[in-house]
Amino acid sequence: MNAHGDCEYVVTGAKGQLGSEMCRILGQSCRGQGFAELDICDKQLVTGYLHRHKPRVVINCAAYTAVDQAEDFADQCQRVNAVAVGHLAEITAEIGATLIQVSTDYVFGNPPNPPHPFTEETPTSPVGVYAQTKLEGEQQAAKNPKHMVVRTCGLYGQSERPSSGNFVTTMIRLGRERDFVSVVNDQHCTPTSVKELARAIAFLADSSPAPGIYHVVNQGETTWFEMAKETFRIAKIDCEVKPITSDEFGAKAPRPPYSVLNADKYHALDGPRMSTWQDALTSYIRETLKIE
Ligand SMILES: NC(=O)c1ccc[n+]([C@@H]2O[C@H](COP(=O)([O-])OP(=O)(O)OC[C@H]3O[C@@H](n4cnc5c(N)ncnc54)[C@H](OP(=O)(O)O)[C@@H]3O)[C@@H](O)[C@H]2O)c1
Repeated sequence: MNAHGDCEYVVTGAKGQLGSEMCRILGQSCRGQGFAELDICDKQLVTGYLHRHKPRVVINCAAYTAVDQAEDFADQCQRVNAVAVGHLAEITAEIGATLIQVSTDYVFGNPPNPPHPFTEETPTSPVGVYAQTKLEGEQQAAKNPKHMVVRTCGLYGQSERPSSGNFVTTMIRLGRERDFVSVVNDQHCTPTSVKELARAIAFLADSSPAPGIYHVVNQGETTWFEMAKETFRIAKIDCEVKPITSDEFGAKAPRPPYSVLNADKYHALDGPRMSTWQDALTSYIRETLKIE
């Protein structure tokens, strides 16, 4: 922060899982703004704020992330995930800042045949309101020539909202309460540690590589069923995991059956390595949940 109040980074959605970790990593050089302070849908507010602080980079971690609820609140979801991103792109372009927009593996709704990890060039096929609005958000972000879209998957990390949980913390809670849990085994993806993702985004923000899309996920692939089994093994929880199908689980919004992302483009930049999903999960459980 300099004497004029200018700062290096502004992080929106700063109370969410990724936003709060971004602020922790960027420290003093960052202004983190939660929903209550900076509603990204309020264009006038965002314009005033960004023109006042003139950050070099805006990292948009704000999003409508309730995937199932989005099916019933499509307009609201579109306003946050797409329209507001267009405004952020315009405003950041006006002040010469880079916009980093965080997006999702859900932009790939149809599995390739045979299955192989999606690259940044693979044509998208979003299914469901959340996925469609996130893809629209990617397109809106590109209104700023200095933009990066970071696609990631299945985040788990700390959040400043005490009520919020992620897949890992939910499994640990359920595993301690129940004899068995039923978990979907037909969605193939790469759940990713927020801590590692935030480190990678900080690197991208700092090193300013070519604008465009970057896939940033942990390495390897798994299913939520396997992820739950590994979580219980690491956390030493004695709970059976039963595999079920997505149809049996019956979520309102569709989920991609295969959305593994190829992160070679990110790794070629020689930034912080993303570890395997197993190593990242082990670190998260040991460090964050204080389980040895
Ligand atoms: N979570 C995942 O598994 C996952 C996977 C792939 C990609 N992503 C993407 O990664 C990014 C970060 O996700 P996350 O897991 O950190 O989500 P999160 O924990 O739900 O955080 C999103 C934050 O955005 C805030 N927000 C909602 N509407 C807003 C608005 N109009 N203005 C300002 N803030 C607003 C939310 O506030 P409230 O909580 O008060 O509503 C919340 O604090 C998102 O772009 C998401 O689409 C997430």
